[in-house]
Parts: sequence; structure tokens; C-alpha cells
Amino acid sequence: PTIHVITPTYSRPVQKAELTRLANTFLHVANLHWILVEDSQRRTPLVARLLRETGLNYTHLNVETPRNYKLRGDARDPRIPRGTMQRNLALRWLRETFSPNSSQPGIVYFADDDNTYSLELFEEMRSTRKVSVWPVAFVGGLRYESPKVNAAGKVYGWKTVFDPHRPFAIDMAGFAINLRLILFKPQAYFKLRGVKGGYQESSLLRDLVTLNDLEPKAANCTKILVWHTRTEKPVLVNEGKKGFTDPNVEI
Ligand code: UGA
Ligand code: MN
Repeated sequence: PTIHVITPTYSRPVQKAELTRLANTFLHVANLHWILVEDSQRRTPLVARLLRETGLNYTHLNVETPRNYKLRGDARDPRIPRGTMQRNLALRWLRETFSPNSSQPGIVYFADDDNTYSLELFEEMRSTRKVSVWPVAFVGGLRYESPKVNAAGKVYGWKTVFDPHRPFAIDMAGFAINLRLILFKPQAYFKLRGVKGGYQESSLLRDLVTLNDLEPKAANCTKILVWHTRTEKPVLVNEGKKGFTDPNVEI
């Protein structure tokens, strides 16, 4: 199957570095289609050029998150959905591009631009029948969060401290979905409104599957194949108000 990787991204000093690192990972993965969705009014030349130069199979989209959803207080405020409209646009694109009856096998994975992905992860998700799940490192104030898997290999709950009673107490990086399921449930999207912190993933998954449907990967969820890393903001104080370096040099 083709792995459709959906990545929301926004303009900031480290954007090109993040996308370069991601592209370098994806170049090692067979049959990967990168759906990169910019949180911007227009597709930017920086991103367009980067995508072209990678040689990857890609689709370049954009949708700007409305201002009233953004810039509210702390950037880490969990009530502000980050990347949600962008992921939803990619879901719509998939539904408009592939017909439910097409035999085109595919897997859908949401890969934020700052995480760290092992190559093994992509091989694990390739066999996803409905929704597959695995642990994610550095989330929820733990070394890792993980689905709980019983001896029969069934997911029966969530090894998390933060709100383990969420329907799907899992980070965005911890699951993949079979494309067929996305196409057969055309109403399933991430909810933008009334979604408490940590409930974004559940808001999509509850429309697609039940706990019983989940397929644990990564050796029954005993291996860490993805890390929720976050990039430090670079210190640019010496640029001053007017800027010190040549603004025509792209970073
Ligand atoms: C955590 C989760 O891992 C995200 O999947 C989830 O979207 C987010 O919380 C949330 O619910 O708000 P976190 O590291 O805090 O992630 O978020 P970021 O990595 O900053 O943003 C997630 C994705 O959205 C990234 O790919 C980022 O480039 C993109 N983003 C962020 C935008 O497109 N626009 C923004 O204004 C901010
Ligand atoms: Mn992140």
C-alpha cells in the first residue's frame, strides 16, 4: 500500500530545517506520498521549492487557521488546536481523490513536522487493516505513553497519567488508519470546536473504530518507534529590529 503521510506545517525560523529532516526520513520509505499542508494564506515558495527538490511523491496544500483559533495566550495552550484544519483538508483531499471502491490500497498517517520517526515505524503501519496503534515517547509527562495490550493481543485501555479515560488516549503520532476506512466514513473529521485538550485524536477515532478494532503494532506496543520531540526556538536577538543578516538568504 501507499502510505499517505499528512503533515501540517507553518512558517517560522526552523520550518525548513524541520521539513528537511522529515524529507530525509521519508526518502528511505518505499511508496510514500507526502501531503504537506501549510497553515498559510498561500502555498509559500520556500515549501514549494523544498518539496520539488526532495524528489518525493507529494501533494502541496494550504489552509490558514482563522485568527480567532490562534495566538490566544500561551502557544502551548492545549485548548488551541494546532494543525487541525490542515489535517482535515488532507482528509478531504483523499476523499476527493480516491473512490471508496478503488482498489488503491493505502494507509493514512499524521506526522507532525517536529517529531522523530524511525523507518521501522512505516513498515509496521503498512499492514494496518483498520487502525493500528503503538507507543509514543515524550508525551503526557512520561518517557512514553502506550496502549495497554492483553495476552491475547487486544488493546483494552491506555497506559497514561493524563486522563486515561479518554476514548482514545493516544497522541497524533501513535496511530495509522487504513485509507478504505477514511473513504467509507466520509463524515469523520477532527472536531475544531468544543474539544478539550487531549481529545483531538479521540474526536476523529471515535467516528472510525472502537477499542476492540485496534491493532497493536511495534511488538505488541513494547517498542518505541516514534518520539514526540519538540524543537527549541532559536535565539535571534542579535538580528535586532531591522535585521542584521541578509533577508534574501533563505534559512
Ligand atoms: C501536540 C500533538 O502531538 C499534536 O499532534 C497536536 O496537534 C497538538 O499537540 C495540539 O493538539 O495542539 P505539539 O508538539 O504541542 O503537539 O504541537 P506542534 O508540533 O507545535 O503542532 C502540531 C503540528 O501542527 C505541527 O506539524 C505544526 O507544524 C503544525 N502547526 C502548529 C500549524 O500548522 N500551525 C500552527 O499554528 C501551529
Ligand atoms: Mn510537536
